[in-house]
Amino acid sequence: MSSSEPASPEIEPQANPSPRRPRILLAASGSVAAIKFGNLCHSFSEWAEVKAVATRASLHFIDRASLPKDVILYTDEDEWSTWNKMGDSVLHIELRRWADILVIAPLSANTLGKIAGGLCDNLLTCIVRAWDYSKPFFVAPAMNTLMWKNPFTERHIMLIDELGVSLIPPVTKRLACGDYGNGAMAEPSLIYSTVRLFFESRVQQGGNNVQQPV
Ligand SMILES: Cc1cc2nc3c(=O)[nH]c(=O)nc-3n(C[C@H](O)[C@H](O)[C@H](O)COP(=O)(O)O)c2cc1C
Repeated sequence: MSSSEPASPEIEPQANPSPRRPRILLAASGSVAAIKFGNLCHSFSEWAEVKAVATRASLHFIDRASLPKDVILYTDEDEWSTWNKMGDSVLHIELRRWADILVIAPLSANTLGKIAGGLCDNLLTCIVRAWDYSKPFFVAPAMNTLMWKNPFTERHIMLIDELGVSLIPPVTKRLACGDYGNGAMAEPSLIYSTVRLFFESRVQQGGNNVQQPV
């Protein structure tokens, strides 16, 4: 964790809650596109409260200093260091309760496969396995063209679509590995605007206690 703030979220009052900002759980998995994760965190922070989650592989690409100061970055180590005995809070459950929206950007081929198969062997995939699918959940895959075209990818995308996960598709361009083709993560600005527009239209329809941005 990059700050001393406790993992447990604040408890919301039940009656007449005052409006609050949306809570975004922004996660990165181990694609080279995770170098843009700091940029994504800054975009979302202008609109929402942000907590960040990173897989072990994604940490090779994330410059922690590039994250906004008030954004806590949770890793697999935090999952275990915050739990010592029965009665202690469980980080993946607390984060899943706290969040209004889950966004995984970038989504690696590996984490896609794990989500589609129901596996949960790290902090991020435990959050996903415990996710409440009445809340928005977006993914922005990023991988080499050959990985994207692999038959497993289509199967996995279909499976997560059935779960209710919203896809922000990858784009075609020169990839970090030098290949040209589809598989690059959508631009952070597109990811941000897609999630924000979706959430704001849902708030307008549902009228919950999440604040309309000014
Ligand atoms: C330099 C480098 C770049 C990589 N880029 C990608 C990528 O863009 N997309 C992807 O799916 N995997 C990529 N990988 C492979 C993943 O990091 C690897 O599958 C890892 O196990 C993913 O773990 P995670 O899903 O838990 O984050 C890359 C690996 C390396 C060494």
